[in-house]
Amino acid sequence: MKIKLLLLSCFLISGSVQAETDKRQFVEMPEMMQNHMMANMRHHLESINEILFLMSNNQLDKAADVAEQNLGMTSLTSHNAAHMAKFMPEGMRKAGTSMHKSASRFALKATEGDAASAYKALSKVTSACVTCHAGYRIR
Ligand code: HEC
Repeated sequence: MKIKLLLLSCFLISGSVQAETDKRQFVEMPEMMQNHMMANMRHHLESINEILFLMSNNQLDKAADVAEQNLGMTSLTSHNAAHMAKFMPEGMRKAGTSMHKSASRFALKATEGDAASAYKALSKVTSACVTCHAGYRIR
């Protein structure tokens, strides 16, 4: 009985370790680029937070501005995206492009003034965050 329990717990432990194996693709880039990218990332999260705050205060136009400037196609130059993209595998680049495009699409929706469809458009932006994070790591 004790041996059976022991065996069972071995299975359980090895099972949970396996589930936690990191399957994300490692993308190598110079340390300076890593720091730059992580700083961009923190700024992305801050922007999403600000957008949600503005949306919940019915300031859809302001939310549109933040999205376009910080995450949308307009942000590509300020975030040095072309330079960063050179280090990214195809799928990662696609997720990045999808995030920028979705953010610009969200900005348009928010400007139109319908909160429900703006929220829906915003969830496409966060889906792009999730897709990239699920697939890639840089350290
Ligand atoms: C093109 C891929 C990609 C997209 C799109 C993306 N991220 Fe990231 N993000 C990463 C990677 C890669 C890391 C580092 C993960 C690692 O190495 O463990 C990261 C890290 C982060 C971090 C951690 C920063 C730190 O200093 O620890 C935050 C916060 C973050 N992302 C937020 C976001 C948000 C919010 C979005 C969407 C608006 C987003 N990211 C979109 C790839 C992406």
